[in-house]
Amino acid sequence: MKFFGRRKGKKLRENRQRLIADFLEKVKINPEKPFAFSEIFASTFAKHVLEIGFGGGEHVAALAKRDEDTGFIGAEVFINGIASLLAHLTGYTERAELASDRIDNVRVYPDDVRKILPFFPSSSLDAVYLLFPDPWPKSRHKERRFINNGNLDELARILKPGGTFCAASDDMTYIRWALSVMNKRDDFEIKWTKASEYFTEPEWWIQTRYELKALKQGKKPVYMVFIRK
Ligand SMILES: C[S@@+](CC[C@H](N)C(=O)[O-])C[C@H]1O[C@@H](n2cnc3c(N)ncnc32)[C@H](O)[C@@H]1O
Repeated sequence: MKFFGRRKGKKLRENRQRLIADFLEKVKINPEKPFAFSEIFASTFAKHVLEIGFGGGEHVAALAKRDEDTGFIGAEVFINGIASLLAHLTGYTERAELASDRIDNVRVYPDDVRKILPFFPSSSLDAVYLLFPDPWPKSRHKERRFINNGNLDELARILKPGGTFCAASDDMTYIRWALSVMNKRDDFEIKWTKASEYFTEPEWWIQTRYELKALKQGKKPVYMVFIRK
């Protein structure tokens, strides 16, 4: 079987392999040059949202179900996470005949999102989510942290004015790093006005697997919502 996705991790269980074989082609995107949303979605949507590193995909799947007028693009490098998203989207379990292949408003990029950020249209996204990114806590690895000025320049270009960049983490080194980088930029402003808001899950928030894991371990995640000026 041909696999997509850069990193394999654990071997895929049989039903996950079938999910990839049966459904990934229907939602996969692989732009190699600037694209328009009309080229990757069959329908037209009022809004467009990108989720970076969706992990098991429960967050983007829940958003896609809730906001049917929005087109979602999810990027993830782990094939197991991609299979998990496909399971959420299709309802596919051991009973393949129950699966639905009507996945109108989600497209999946099964690779490193940084490769396609330059191809998004300018001022086109209503929101970007980066939830519990790999923290790379060692100082010598800090260039690997997703929040850095190079990636933020791209996010600033592709977000609409007034669009949101939502990030969360339970790693204090990463949070301090993220806030210090964001505070020096003049193209984003933090939505919060009170310190307590950093530690309060916004009421519209949908929890992710990593967030639940952190909460179970007694950690206090920090929620950051930045507005593109
Ligand atoms: C710590 S996990 C968090 C997953 C999920 N957002 C959550 O909160 O449960 C970080 C995820 O980001 C993915 N990731 C890291 N760098 C990425 C990149 N450049 N492009 C796409 N995915 C990436 C990893 O494969 C991993 O699944």
